[in-house]
Amino acid sequence: MSYPQSGYNSRMSLVSEPHHARPDAYGFEETKQATGSKWHPRNWGRKTWIGVLAAVAVVIIVVVVGAVEGTKANRYPAYKKLNYTLKDTYEGTSFFDDFDYFSGYDPAAGFVHYVDRAGSQWLNLTYASDTSAVLKVDATNADSSTGRRSVRISSKKTYNEGLFVFDILHSPYGCGTWPALWLSDPSNWPMNGEIDIVEANNAASSGNQMTLHTTNHCKMNVKRKQSGKTLENNCWNGTNSNAGCGVQGSASTYGQDLNKNGGGVYATELRSDGIRIWFFPRSSIPSDIDTSANNSTSSTVPDPSSWGEPLADFPTTDCNIGSHFRNQSIIANIDLCGQLAGLEQFYSTESHCPGTCTSFVANNYTAFQDAYWEFRSFRVYQAQG
Ligand SMILES: *[C@@H]1O[C@H](CO)[C@@H](O)[C@H](O)[C@H]1NC(C)=O
Ligand SMILES: *[C@@H]1O[C@H](CO)[C@@H](O)[C@H](O)[C@H]1NC(C)=O
Ligand SMILES: *[C@@H]1O[C@H](CO)[C@@H](O)[C@H](O)[C@H]1NC(C)=O
Ligand SMILES: *[C@@H]1O[C@H](CO)[C@@H](O)[C@H](O)[C@H]1NC(C)=O
Ligand SMILES: *[C@@H]1O[C@H](CO)[C@@H](O)[C@H](O)[C@H]1NC(C)=O
Ligand SMILES: *[C@@H]1O[C@H](CO)[C@@H](O)[C@H](O)[C@H]1NC(C)=O
Ligand SMILES: *[C@@H]1O[C@H](CO)[C@@H](O)[C@H](O)[C@H]1NC(C)=O
Repeated sequence: MSYPQSGYNSRMSLVSEPHHARPDAYGFEETKQATGSKWHPRNWGRKTWIGVLAAVAVVIIVVVVGAVEGTKANRYPAYKKLNYTLKDTYEGTSFFDDFDYFSGYDPAAGFVHYVDRAGSQWLNLTYASDTSAVLKVDATNADSSTGRRSVRISSKKTYNEGLFVFDILHSPYGCGTWPALWLSDPSNWPMNGEIDIVEANNAASSGNQMTLHTTNHCKMNVKRKQSGKTLENNCWNGTNSNAGCGVQGSASTYGQDLNKNGGGVYATELRSDGIRIWFFPRSSIPSDIDTSANNSTSSTVPDPSSWGEPLADFPTTDCNIGSHFRNQSIIANIDLCGQLAGLEQFYSTESHCPGTCTSFVANNYTAFQDAYWEFRSFRVYQAQG
């Protein structure tokens, strides 16, 4: 209390310098001041002092809080250049060897039967050549009254960090479909996080949606550098009915628009600074991304620091990325109806699909010709050291 008081007084005494320069008249002057000026601090009553000090305190608080908030709003990770090296490749005829096939009950309540590896080969739902790997929905069996057969694969290897380069030749779309290419640890969800890199539903004409799902304390209402449109800022599964914190890309980032241009590359960087997702249409893939098929000895090294602004940016500022995302497998699937594609809002209103989702999926087997993923390769790079 004494510091601001004396500080205030010393400044005031400069102003009243002439009075102090005349010590002989000091007593007189003081009396005169006491009756003559309510502006002199010596004449302030207790209430005035309290008022003045309160005003000073408010000013200090406003300045400090403003500075802190300003600094917080400007906080942004360094995202320093990392020296990546190729760690794992998923490509060529062995593409599916490094994945497990999920064949249990669908956790997302889809109208789907996920088929194991033998079944997928028998039905030809997954197959790979030197140049690509295909993963599709059963489009030959008319009778699917309890759900249509489809595939969900999950990489045996798991990752805490890395640069994942997904070369996509064709993305699935059509009424009833809910395809995704994502990273997660489904048996420890949401504790170990989920990163939806490519996700859409039904006609999928409004573009790709990239979303994080986490436990509490992961928010994105911070400074970001991205070209996509923010949908929600809270990634916690306990808010917004587990909508997650999504970012929407333009129509060309998915489905028909993406496919007619020969697909493109989605590159996802997962590191403690944050998660960034870049999309490159086939015609503008940076030269440091090797798109040659069947080349696990490729020595081309991608450098995200040279790529410019990503489509989606999830910085670590108000979300500890390193602790929210662990043991991530690469997962690709095509769900049908279920908690997303089956909702009237998406199936009917947005995509103008006929009847109900389940009756369409059960009966309209010829409508799944475009419901397939075709990948040229997945490559995972990790930083040295
Ligand atoms: C990356 O490699 C360059 C050249 O080899 C080196 O100068 C730099 O220190 C390395 N950076 C890191 C983060 O290892
Ligand atoms: C699976 O389907 C593809 C594409 O139609 C075809 O090229 C391939 O021969 C089929 N494989 C089997 C085992 O039927
Ligand atoms: C969110 O995750 C918690 C576990 O942390 C789980 O109990 C809850 O059911 C989840 N909520 C939703 C809507 O997924
Ligand atoms: C793919 O790579 C394998 C092993 O390097 C090679 O035997 C095969 O000829 C290649 N295929 C094509 C189409 O390049
Ligand atoms: C594979 O990559 C290496 C190094 O990047 C390159 O020299 C070679 O020509 C590539 N091979 C094929 C078949 O593309
Ligand atoms: C990640 O997986 C490893 C190996 O399965 C396990 O030991 C570890 O506890 C897991 N970490 C987390 C955070 O779940
Ligand atoms: C099957 O698809 C066609 C064309 O999209 C549609 O007119 C028809 O209503 C669908 N049938 C069912 C049973 O959903």
